[in-house]
Amino acid sequence: MTIHIGARPGDIAETVLMPGDPLRAKWAAETFLDNPRSVNETRGMLGFTGTWRGQRVTIQGSGMGMPSLSIYANELIRDFGAKTLIRIGSCGAMQDSVNLRDVVIAMTASSLSTPSRGFFRELQFAPCADFGLLERAVAAARSKGVTPHVGGIYSADVFYDERPDLNEQMTRHGILAVEMEAAELYTVAARFGVRALAVLTVSDHLLRDGALPSAERERSFGEMVEIALEAAFD
Ligand code: ADE
Repeated sequence: MTIHIGARPGDIAETVLMPGDPLRAKWAAETFLDNPRSVNETRGMLGFTGTWRGQRVTIQGSGMGMPSLSIYANELIRDFGAKTLIRIGSCGAMQDSVNLRDVVIAMTASSLSTPSRGFFRELQFAPCADFGLLERAVAAARSKGVTPHVGGIYSADVFYDERPDLNEQMTRHGILAVEMEAAELYTVAARFGVRALAVLTVSDHLLRDGALPSAERERSFGEMVEIALEAAFD
């Protein structure tokens, strides 16, 4: 048991999928895993462990934002031995070529800051995905007839952004989408020598109106879970 994860030693699999929303963790575990069982309820941040094609998998909510994700990623890696962490979540598109429902696979994650910022002092660390996971996620998406957007994303600290000028620069520099967790996930994973990736679906658009209705969110969320599971196992 750790401060934020009430699991017992051995309850957490080496492969962990991390949706922001704990109820999505429950839905994904019940939908995609065999014999899912609850391993964490602390603070309502639900976690489940089961098997997928015979391989052990944990699906653990991360909460929203990098400080929350950082707590769970640190404890999963340091205390429970997680070796592969894949964020599955939503993002807001920042390019015209990216549409609602599209899948974005984050090669890198830019940010203004992460909870790890103090650590690096003057260094501008460049958080990046594990290449093997990235490669397999792209192949898994393509095998489902999905053409993913692969490139840089922006991990923001605020959802209600008051800096349109900054978003314009992100768009200008080719950033595909904005979310709020991947930069810290990639940084913590790099620190401890484990693999990380973020597979996202576009739920809203920063350059035009529109957001996915909830039924559509569920469908595209399911697709992401499958892509993440296929990427995790050779
Ligand atoms: N996640 C989904 N849409 C987002 C947005 N517009 N900003 C930040 N995080 C998001």
